[in-house]
Amino acid sequence: MSFAVTVLYGSYRRDRQGIRAVRFIEEQLRARGHTPTLLDAMALDLPLLDRMYKEHPKSSAPPVLEKMAETIRAADGFVVVTGEYNQGIPPGLKNMLDHFLEEWFWRPSAIVSYSQGSFAGVRAAILLRITLAELGTPAISSTLPVPQVQKAFDEQGKPADPEAWARRSRKFLDEFEWHMAALKAQREKGVPY
Ligand SMILES: Cc1cc2nc3c(=O)[nH]c(=O)nc-3n(C[C@H](O)[C@H](O)[C@H](O)COP(=O)(O)O)c2cc1C
Repeated sequence: MSFAVTVLYGSYRRDRQGIRAVRFIEEQLRARGHTPTLLDAMALDLPLLDRMYKEHPKSSAPPVLEKMAETIRAADGFVVVTGEYNQGIPPGLKNMLDHFLEEWFWRPSAIVSYSQGSFAGVRAAILLRITLAELGTPAISSTLPVPQVQKAFDEQGKPADPEAWARRSRKFLDEFEWHMAALKAQREKGVPY
């Protein structure tokens, strides 16, 4: 079964490194027959939150929000790629998530965390899980933590150790697919509200 997967990335840093993990996971998704669509907050030039998407009169939200809402609604699941800034969720990523609410509902999410050090952003991943649950897109149990992201993948997302990363991502993506399939089947029967 192939799925539409939205990949979220929220670093606005000119020297950003997480884009390597984004490229890697996009390629893994494509290799499994899925269609990843990247929402990159910096590339979208998403401003800080003023009104949430739903607070704009219908069809009159800024074009960037309309485009994002369309992508989010079309997704079967979300891969959220997070760095860790001062042991928390990077503000650009949190800002992107906070713009929407109902648009995320009834689909699973999966967390890829990374850092340039040894801890792979796992503290941000723990906090992100709480936010994703609140947004109605609960995160699957497995995560894909990437220590030393600047060494793990090149700028195109090619892994320095392809075998190890294929192994690490396999269980993560198997589990994510299972949740996407389960919730898709359930959505087809209707949603509670
Ligand atoms: C403001 C700021 C705070 C950071 N805090 C942490 C941290 O708490 N833990 C950590 O492992 N790395 C931390 N780092 C280093 C990041 O892991 C590293 O810069 C990473 O590349 C950031 O992701 P990005 O390049 O995609 O923006 C921090 C970096 C910045 C810019």
